[in-house]
Amino acid sequence: MDIRQATEQDVDAIVAVHLAAFNGFFLTMLGPSFLRGLYRAFLHRQHGILRVAVSSENTIVGFAAGTSAPQLFFSQLRKDKWFSFLLRAIPGMLKNPVIVVKKLYYAAFYKGDRPASLSDVALLSSIAVSPDMAGKAVGKALLADYEQQVKAAELPALFLTTDKFGNDNVVAFYQRAGYQIESEFTQPDGRQMLRLIKYF
Ligand SMILES: CC(C)(COP(=O)(O)OP(=O)(O)OC[C@H]1O[C@@H](n2cnc3c(N)ncnc32)[C@H](O)[C@@H]1OP(=O)(O)O)[C@@H](O)C(=O)NCCC(=O)NCCS
Repeated sequence: MDIRQATEQDVDAIVAVHLAAFNGFFLTMLGPSFLRGLYRAFLHRQHGILRVAVSSENTIVGFAAGTSAPQLFFSQLRKDKWFSFLLRAIPGMLKNPVIVVKKLYYAAFYKGDRPASLSDVALLSSIAVSPDMAGKAVGKALLADYEQQVKAAELPALFLTTDKFGNDNVVAFYQRAGYQIESEFTQPDGRQMLRLIKYF
């Protein structure tokens, strides 16, 4: 297995891994078009990070996406692309109108949910491994590689947010890799979240 920078040709495979790994999640509800727009943003925009794990058969088996400057990245993305993302969200809105509209309102103000005390900190927005490849250390390798990208940008820490409840496996995955709970917060829809961080 190899881990490398993603390319435009990888975007559909990244979306497929996302759809399989994040079954039932909000971004998944927004559908493939929205996800393609989002992952293209991590790929092409300034401060975006998008890495892929590729099997020996040259298949994308996982990815890690995020940004080295969360506040800037999301505010610029919203400013430049809000209309395009709104159009891309329409299929999801038609299927799950109440949830999607509430969440899009939250997204309109989203700046990465960065820790209040830190300004220079990178964000891991999502990491996923194809379900048929889970438990084979692909996630661990992707996370270590992502950390290398953050260190190369000379940032002192990497954070992420994840569900507080019903999510022990994912929290265990991060804690084994040296992440600690920095704080907790509740999203406007009542979803309780943990903010995990690793200092370098
Ligand atoms: C979370 C995820 C990325 C882990 O990837 P993975 O390739 O299955 O995990 P790995 O095999 O690399 O495991 C790495 C370590 O985490 C631990 N771990 C992985 N899954 C675990 C689980 N379900 N329960 C407890 N520990 C777990 C492993 O035991 C391993 O520990 P070690 O370093 O001591 O050997 C993957 O399961 C996934 O894509 N989940 C769905 C998407 C998701 O929830 N992403 C995270 C939120 S953004």
